[in-house]
Amino acid sequence: MATPELYTKGAWVWTPDEEEVWVSAQLQQDYRPGDQTLILRLSDGREMHYSVASPAGLPPLGNPDILEGENDLTALSFLHEAAVLHNLRVRFLDYSSIYTYCGIVLVALNPYEQLPIYGEEVMDAYSGQDMADMDPHVFSIAEEGYRAMIREEKNQSIIISGESGSGKTVSAKFAMRYFAVVGGAAQQTQVEEKVLASSPIMEAIGNAKTTRNDNSSRFGKYVEIGFGSKGDIIGASMRTYLLEKSRVVFQAPYERNYHIFYQLCAFKDSPEMRALKLDSAEHFRYTNQGLDINIPGTDDAVELENTRNALTVMGVQPDQQMELFQILAAVLHLGNVNIQASGRGGDRCFISADDLSLVVFSKLMGVEGSQMAHWLCHQRLTVAGEILVRPMSAQQANGARDALAKHVYGQLFAWTVQSLNSALRAHRERTKTLIGVLDIYGFETFDRNSFEQFCINYANEKLQQQFNRHVFQLEQEEYVREELPWSRIEFSDNQPCITLIEGPLGVLDLLDEECRVPKGSDENWARKLYDRHLDRSPNFRKPRMSNSAFVLLHFADMVQYECLGFLEKNRDTVFEEPINIMRASQLELVAELFQQEPAGGSLSASSVRNGPVRSGNKAHREHKLTVGFQFRQSLQLLMDTLNGTTPHYIRCIKPNDLKQPFTFDPRRAVQQLRACGVLETIRISAAGYSSRWRYEEFFSRYRVLLSASAAQGDSRASCRRAIPALIPDPEQYCFGRTKVFLRAGQVAVLEKLRAGRLCAAAVLVQSTVRGWLQSRRFRRLRHATLTLQRFTRGTLARRLACILRYTRAALVIQKTYRMAVVRQLFLAIREAAVTIQAYARGVQARRACRQVNPSRSLRCNAPECQPRRNMYPNISSICVIKKICLRSVYYTLRMPTTIPGLGGGATKPAGSRKRTGSEARAGAASPVGATMAAVLKELGALHVALERQELPAALLEQAFRQLVHQLAASALNSLILRKDMCCWSRGLQIRYNVSLLEEWLRSRGLQTGGAAAALEPLIQAAQLLQMSKKTEADGRAVVQTCSALSSQQIVKILTQYTPQSDVEERVTLNFIRIVQGLLKGRSDGPPPQLLLDVRRVFPVTFPYLPPPPVSVEQLDIPDSLKISFLRRV
Ligand SMILES: Nc1ncnc2c1ncn2[C@@H]1O[C@H](COP(=O)(O)OP(=O)(O)OP(=O)(O)O)[C@@H](O)[C@H]1O
Ligand SMILES: [Mg+2]
Repeated sequence: MATPELYTKGAWVWTPDEEEVWVSAQLQQDYRPGDQTLILRLSDGREMHYSVASPAGLPPLGNPDILEGENDLTALSFLHEAAVLHNLRVRFLDYSSIYTYCGIVLVALNPYEQLPIYGEEVMDAYSGQDMADMDPHVFSIAEEGYRAMIREEKNQSIIISGESGSGKTVSAKFAMRYFAVVGGAAQQTQVEEKVLASSPIMEAIGNAKTTRNDNSSRFGKYVEIGFGSKGDIIGASMRTYLLEKSRVVFQAPYERNYHIFYQLCAFKDSPEMRALKLDSAEHFRYTNQGLDINIPGTDDAVELENTRNALTVMGVQPDQQMELFQILAAVLHLGNVNIQASGRGGDRCFISADDLSLVVFSKLMGVEGSQMAHWLCHQRLTVAGEILVRPMSAQQANGARDALAKHVYGQLFAWTVQSLNSALRAHRERTKTLIGVLDIYGFETFDRNSFEQFCINYANEKLQQQFNRHVFQLEQEEYVREELPWSRIEFSDNQPCITLIEGPLGVLDLLDEECRVPKGSDENWARKLYDRHLDRSPNFRKPRMSNSAFVLLHFADMVQYECLGFLEKNRDTVFEEPINIMRASQLELVAELFQQEPAGGSLSASSVRNGPVRSGNKAHREHKLTVGFQFRQSLQLLMDTLNGTTPHYIRCIKPNDLKQPFTFDPRRAVQQLRACGVLETIRISAAGYSSRWRYEEFFSRYRVLLSASAAQGDSRASCRRAIPALIPDPEQYCFGRTKVFLRAGQVAVLEKLRAGRLCAAAVLVQSTVRGWLQSRRFRRLRHATLTLQRFTRGTLARRLACILRYTRAALVIQKTYRMAVVRQLFLAIREAAVTIQAYARGVQARRACRQVNPSRSLRCNAPECQPRRNMYPNISSICVIKKICLRSVYYTLRMPTTIPGLGGGATKPAGSRKRTGSEARAGAASPVGATMAAVLKELGALHVALERQELPAALLEQAFRQLVHQLAASALNSLILRKDMCCWSRGLQIRYNVSLLEEWLRSRGLQTGGAAAALEPLIQAAQLLQMSKKTEADGRAVVQTCSALSSQQIVKILTQYTPQSDVEERVTLNFIRIVQGLLKGRSDGPPPQLLLDVRRVFPVTFPYLPPPPVSVEQLDIPDSLKISFLRRV
């Protein structure tokens, strides 16, 4: 339980809800111990009063935001059902991530949609990687198993369980495909091909359409893949469990029989099938009870082709295949044999001699028809040492016929598994280590539960116990590794329930005992169960309203079983005589099928006999045993096998019953989480120290909480000094060798303290900034006021001055005007006087002159009296001079850049300067730089080698485009899948490295052939890591920038983005949704794929080059070729 002090106003809690199972709500006021109610506001705005009887009744707290969408459920601070459900939902619906870790378990939600996450490029990306670094995936579990097997040389197993339709078989197939790829032998041995080919065969004969799943496996399967000393696959073997034989003769509405029957019927008209006398599946009683014989989207004829191809790959010859099909067709005809009642009261029956179905059946099985007709209607009894033949009623005979059909099918199934095992057996060398993949039915509960559900749930009890013990043991190992004292954590061991089922005088024992009693019945057995276990076994109950049912308290749920039919199914009786007839069949395969059979024995469990070599050939005695007994034995064998391996778990969850893509029904999800033990893992984690942080991680996140003195020294010492001050109760934490261990809820406490410290720091920063802003505003205001005052005073002064100046000017003007008027008058008078004087003097002078010399006149030669010619003599020359000046200025300006040495480094190519500098820095500082240098060196060596070949430049460009594409694609794929790569600093580093590569390409003239373009997605991914990712404008910038990245890649990088420092922040869900919205409108984006195809090969174009004109004489033919005669010829 979390500490009550965390229930403060604004805290988020989870409250139970009918529909959604858990809904989040916010506390409206602080909780104080003793309060009886909490006031909550639900996310839809409604207010609610939540009653709290005691602190233990407080609702579970929500996890801090930083933990939303965590890869691993056990990393959540508050480990409870609500948190687990929420985290799975967020990952599934918002991030489209179907896989999530829960400690050692991989939780897989069925997406009901084909996802592009299973290609070879994804396998390449996961190969050799550490599980902790990678996004959760079925490949990472497979890789973990494979690596552990190679490293520890120990057998491994992958245990896949879940409800019908949850994706177990799909997961198992992907895991096996992964092993086939990573364990592919150097020489092609076809073992991997055979391992993969076994799946379609097993699906054809062991899978059927049910209401829950169109391809439901009706048996459990454990496939062991054997690896040799080099880690390559050298063989495989398979064991099956509890085939649902009743389906051969009965199907519920909208269900089908096994696929193989419909596949054969779909091929009825082909020439080779004509001898089987098949008809449409609608005409056979064993295939038409489900009413609908088709599966949407599946073509049975095509499927038969696949089955036959797989059989061929497995080495089953066409004639053997036909024999197999012949027996299957015979089963269908047997179902149509008409048994008619006769005798008084219908106590006898007969089969007409011309019953066509019986004739065909007998022919196909190579047996005598009349004998078969007789022994289908009669029974041999041994009474007091005497053998009697007793007729059967029609009902009994129908039952015997159906039992025979089931038996034949069961034998054929077992034979097929045995044949596959011989084909898969290792021949090359001895198997060194194994990886087993168990695809087994999960816990089941229906309205009416019968023997099959009982066995399935019993198997799940055993597997759950194995799982609990393993998780518990791992937990213990972690404590030992961290040198912590191991205090025992209680975990709910389901041993009492297992003892109740398989212990002495347990449910199975009593059932077997009742089967041995001649007149044993289901009711008697029920009574014995009540007598023995009621009120004695805590896991046993009797239903109130029934005397023929019992209730078992399984680890996952309480299940009521109806006793009716248990004895019959446990005995699985088939009469002796029809088996004897089969054994004498002329058909080799039919005789072989029944060779080992006991006469009249109860048989079923293909499980025990079809096991691999290790299961051994059991004694004849065993065949007499009941189905329950054999199932118990096969289960024990399985448990022994699993206990000898390191298990890895995949729990498949069916998110909705409607098979809708990416639809999450929380009620169904919780039901399955409870049933598959995920919540138990969580409980074990929560019971101890649920949160484990490496000292460095802890220090980096909570450094803000440490005082300056505590934060000195290495991170481990700092944590040890600081934590006691932060968490007063020493019970709530302890220090391991490499990690600090915290109890549930303590991370939330620390997060709260951190948020408080950051908040206080933010307030301090805000107050300082506000103070500074205010003082700056004040200074500006004062400055502005002074300026205004100054200007105003200036203006006023200027205005006054202006007035004064105007006044003065007016006076001056008046004065001047008056003066001018007076002067003009004076001048006019003077000029008049002078003129008059001049004229008068002139007249006088001329008069006097005429008197002296009357012919002479006067002329003026002063320079000022000359006309003004050549006033602008040099304008054109000035223009020319000006132009010359301008040009000289222009040249002067250009000169310094062209003078060598004047610009220093300016004349050196900018690129080479950058490279030299950065190489030195990278070489000195980081190993990544060294790697890049090595890559460039390699590329350089390659380039030189190719150039020596005198390849045309176009081919060189294409070669480097291919190389650069592979480099960039694998780097991008790894970036997309590695959380630790998705951060700002990595983006910077990638961009830097790519720039080195670009520069290298440029320096060799290779950038034009598409090599530079191949780098574009990687460059954009690096830019995306460095861009701001907050607002809608940022989102638009992201979409605009990342034009070479697909929508899936952009969203994946955003979801993977993991801050590495306090400065960075996680990308909010809201932002991802904005980007997703914007990407929807994008029309010209790259194809929708998550990873780039690393193996893509670009087509090569060879340029046409005319052959050089070389004459034969010029050819230098080495003597060693001994073709010098050619020259002579
Ligand atoms: N990873 C996946 N991607 C896409 N579709 C899936 C995936 N896993 C399961 N499915 C879909 O769910 C269907 C049911 O899966 P599967 O047959 O593996 O279920 P199951 O758990 O083996 O059920 P059963 O117990 O009935 O055999 C598949 O046919 C497929 O359509
Ligand atoms: Mg299956």
